[in-house]
Amino acid sequence: MSETKFEPRIVGFFCNWCSYRAADVAGSARRKHAANVHIIRVMCSGRVDPAFVMKAFALGADGVMLAGCHPGECHYLEQNYKAMRRVTLLRHTLASMGVEPVRLRLQWASAAEGPQLAQAIDEMAETVQKLGPLQWPKHWREEPGAADALQELAEEHRQAAEVAV
Ligand code: FES
Repeated sequence: MSETKFEPRIVGFFCNWCSYRAADVAGSARRKHAANVHIIRVMCSGRVDPAFVMKAFALGADGVMLAGCHPGECHYLEQNYKAMRRVTLLRHTLASMGVEPVRLRLQWASAAEGPQLAQAIDEMAETVQKLGPLQWPKHWREEPGAADALQELAEEHRQAAEVAV
């Protein structure tokens, strides 16, 4: 009997000005990253409310990546420092809930760093694959409408991206 390999589902909140473009650059250069990443474009990593991250996990993500401009290069001054502080707090919160903090990763990537970003995504996918499914909710894959809910989340963020940071 063959075992099916677990494919982690990762949600990526990517800043429009850097990492989202970096992902594009990687795509144009045919540097493929792990296919199981669901990328949501945001205007800045600082726009990612902690509730967005928790909601992604609650809707079935096995890992979440926040990607933004390098420190000192945020288009909204110091919002990426805010993202950094939030990620630190969120990782503590996840640990206190029994969730491995490495399921949440913060990645800096300039628009020119497509290959590096693709590598970071692959590394994260590998890490989460080794951890196994988060199962929060337990059987989300069987949950009717889980995929639609993630799509709705993307739509919410698309709309949020249109308002000021
Ligand atoms: Fe990219 Fe703020 S604009 S992290």
